[in-house]
Amino acid sequence: MDTYKVYSDSIDLQTSSELINLSNYNDRDNFFVDFEFLSGVDHSIWADYNICERYKTRNPRDNNNPYPHNLPVYDSLAEKLKPTWDLISQDQGIELNIENCWGIDLIFYGPNTILTPHKDGFEHLVITCLTARNILDSEGELLLWNQNSEDLPRIMNNFNIVDDSTDRISLKEGESILLNDTKYYHAVSPMTQGARVTVVSRWGNKTPDRGFDY
Ligand SMILES: [Fe+2]
Repeated sequence: MDTYKVYSDSIDLQTSSELINLSNYNDRDNFFVDFEFLSGVDHSIWADYNICERYKTRNPRDNNNPYPHNLPVYDSLAEKLKPTWDLISQDQGIELNIENCWGIDLIFYGPNTILTPHKDGFEHLVITCLTARNILDSEGELLLWNQNSEDLPRIMNNFNIVDDSTDRISLKEGESILLNDTKYYHAVSPMTQGARVTVVSRWGNKTPDRGFDY
């Protein structure tokens, strides 16, 4: 697999709601705002936008994971996502399952949030859109660039100034995208209003330090 593919109707609204509400939001230790995502981008972004918030879980079967976040919740999320992963696995002829998944993050975007260009450091990412409400056209869109380290400084400098992305994808509620994380950088265009919640699952860690996004 060397590209990406969007799957519509990959999860039902009931399951999406259950995933979003899995946390009671009192377990603040499991939420993260990764400010390192702001490094390398134009400073004007810092004043106007926040980085999205993540609820991180990691697979308890991975004894070598140096970031053992929220292990008990992983299986609860994974079981609800299994039908989505099965749909994609069967279509692609690859193994995306509970046992070999590295971890699952719920990612919350609100007004004035962004995600700057990066790769996660894996083979496969599945990003599933659980909620996308009251979002303006061109905001909260997934941006993709061909992955070439020589281009990264330009991509970071241009982000939110000049759109040099190779693809823009507006992921609707219930849609998933399978993304080859070795072929693309990805980001989310700034949102000024509304709410967007995605869940990201990762397979095939490719970097000794477990990548940028741990
Ligand atoms: Fe990412």
